[in-house]
Amino acid sequence: MLENKIEKFVKILKESQNTVFFGGAGVSTESGLKDFRSKDGLYNEKYDYPPEEILSHHFFIEHPAEFYKFYKDKLNSLTYHPNKAHYVLANLENKKLLKGIITQNIDGFHQEAGSKNVVEIHGSVHRNYCLKCHKYYDAKKVFLSKGIPRCDCGGLIKPDVVLYEEPLKEQDVKKAIDLIRNAEVLIIGGTSLNVYPAASFISYFNGKHLIIINKDKTTMDNSCSLIFHDNIATVLEEVENKLKEEN
Ligand SMILES: NC(=O)c1ccc[n+]([C@@H]2O[C@H](COP(=O)([O-])OP(=O)(O)OC[C@H]3O[C@@H](n4cnc5c(N)ncnc54)[C@H](O)[C@@H]3O)[C@@H](O)[C@H]2O)c1
Ligand SMILES: [Zn+2]
Repeated sequence: MLENKIEKFVKILKESQNTVFFGGAGVSTESGLKDFRSKDGLYNEKYDYPPEEILSHHFFIEHPAEFYKFYKDKLNSLTYHPNKAHYVLANLENKKLLKGIITQNIDGFHQEAGSKNVVEIHGSVHRNYCLKCHKYYDAKKVFLSKGIPRCDCGGLIKPDVVLYEEPLKEQDVKKAIDLIRNAEVLIIGGTSLNVYPAASFISYFNGKHLIIINKDKTTMDNSCSLIFHDNIATVLEEVENKLKEEN
């Protein structure tokens, strides 16, 4: 059964002139970073506030110390690395079988794995700016600082990530929608499709095949050509193996 589905996946990939991947936190769980909504996700851990409250704009401004405690503890991707899912996607781009990636993740793993055309619609932990003088700082400055990271000028440093209550960047939205609108095949993986407006981008897809790889059910399950309720790293690795076998 799975073998047949992998064969179908590979056939769709090879026939497509324009395949795009849209992903979320589930792509990085195999790397060690928790997602929000799985059974053992961040949402089900005990904090004084839910993650979406801590990662909101007003919370960052009002409680920067608590924000940074959570942020450094839970979203420090410097101590983790890309997994097989990221590497297979990078290889597919390299082989011209994938046009681009739209990710809701902020960990930078796709680029670390070698992907080039990546739209990070929620920003990246790797870019950080002083709110006062706009000086740039890398992720180390933030994750290795004690307490609240501050600029040389004394200003508060803010990660260039889109917090809840903040709008997405217009140029990223445009790039993401263009990729999806022109895609012949859209692969959605590791996302509950619960975070808006990111999840609404999917409605721009008007291509031939929608493929979903997600452990839990999603709201789009009924609209796809192929569905894997499975580990994305395993599924993509099997796709890669099948491709190698056929070449
Ligand atoms: N790594 C990160 O950068 C990181 C981590 C946590 C949250 N976030 C951000 O928080 C928001 C949460 O929304 P979301 O939809 O991305 O995540 P989510 O937590 O709402 O959903 C993750 C989905 O991935 C699935 N999943 C988990 N591990 C998987 C695996 N190995 N294989 C296949 N599926 C798997 C789960 O079943 C779940 O439905 C997003 O903005 C997200 O980017 C980012
Ligand atoms: Zn400054």
